[in-house]
Amino acid sequence: MDLNLKYAIDEKLLNSYQNQVSAINEMIENKTGLGNDFLGWVDYPNTYDKEELERIIKDAQYVRNNFDILVVCGIGGSYLGARAAIEALGGLYPNRKLEIIYMGNTFSPTYTAQVLNYLENKKFAINVISKSGTTTETSIAFRLLKNLLEKQIGVEASKKAIYATTDKQKGALKTLCNKMGYSTYVLPDDVGGRFSVFTAVGLFPIACAGFDIKALLNGALAARLKYNNPILNTNDCYKYACLRDYMLKQNHKSVELYVQYEPQFIQISEWLKQLFAESEGKQKKGLLPDSVSFSTDLHSLGQFVQDGSPILFETIIRIQQPLNDVSVPHDKDDLDGLNYLENKKLSFINEKAFEGTLKAHVEDGLVPCAIITFEKLDEYELGYLFYFFMRACAMSAYLLEINPFNQPGVEIYKKNMFHLLGKKGY
Ligand code: PA5
Repeated sequence: MDLNLKYAIDEKLLNSYQNQVSAINEMIENKTGLGNDFLGWVDYPNTYDKEELERIIKDAQYVRNNFDILVVCGIGGSYLGARAAIEALGGLYPNRKLEIIYMGNTFSPTYTAQVLNYLENKKFAINVISKSGTTTETSIAFRLLKNLLEKQIGVEASKKAIYATTDKQKGALKTLCNKMGYSTYVLPDDVGGRFSVFTAVGLFPIACAGFDIKALLNGALAARLKYNNPILNTNDCYKYACLRDYMLKQNHKSVELYVQYEPQFIQISEWLKQLFAESEGKQKKGLLPDSVSFSTDLHSLGQFVQDGSPILFETIIRIQQPLNDVSVPHDKDDLDGLNYLENKKLSFINEKAFEGTLKAHVEDGLVPCAIITFEKLDEYELGYLFYFFMRACAMSAYLLEINPFNQPGVEIYKKNMFHLLGKKGY
């Protein structure tokens, strides 16, 4: 992985962060900062439950051998990491025997009805994921899925088709699992949802999709070992965190725009948006994380990025080797005028789009652009990427002097909604 800040900032401007970075690095390592009971993710690529990992791999193989569809039922941190990984590693139309679909992440009646309809008479398994075990979207979807499954294959057979990831002891989902005897995996107490992709929350669905979760953890471990280094000018992860802070406080930017050039990475941006928004958007502080998928969005938001209010900077995530490639064919009449591109690969054209856009945004638009480049994105590199951003997020949030690991703001709408729905106690 390479971090290039030359289109974003003169790196010397970040030197003044060194003392803060050293102190915060120690806080993260020694678990002494705000929200310190949620720092289990820091060393998780080392300390994870090895037996559970083997069980996850075995169960995932069982699901792949015995079902046509896995429904991943969760919301927020209980699904975004898995989806980001599955789409990034496999693309949007993968050649995979087991189809993965997502439910429990919306109240949408149409989406819910259509998924249930699609599942009628199909061989599907369910992975329900909820740390609290009480999230309303997930619980409603799971009740519906469980009913459909039991109707299709009976209560006993359903027990072998339902896999739950939840708290070790508490919550309604855990109670139900105990009663029904479903296979369960643990989301540890000291790991919050948006930091949970390396736990069973991410690993089980990712393994079901056929990917190497040990390599994912190895990539995370490599990043963990590299980024506990307090020396700022040799630590790209902390440089990136300081850049974010500098953009907000000194450069008066209020939006960080995540940019990528492959639709299969859109869900990585969704994961990033949740990670940073829920961790930092508190006490009237923080950058708003937003995202675009280029070149698609060069034909929409691109206008604003180039020429609109100067409120944003870009963080571009570039993957040099695409999963697949296509060449432009010859056409004897050349009526579309494309023969100048004949035999050129779309990866080459995409690269030129990136280079042209970078120049336009930096030189004409005066938009600071940070560039994170990966040669390719396999399981190992993706594990590295996830860890890089999680660690950067902790550093960045502590620079803002807030607790990165709670989300008090998301409780308020829930209270109102429960009151309106007539839930007891609201
Ligand atoms: O990051 C978080 O903590 C949240 O996004 C949660 O993951 C999300 O609200 C789902 O919660 P739960 O796993 O309890 O269903």
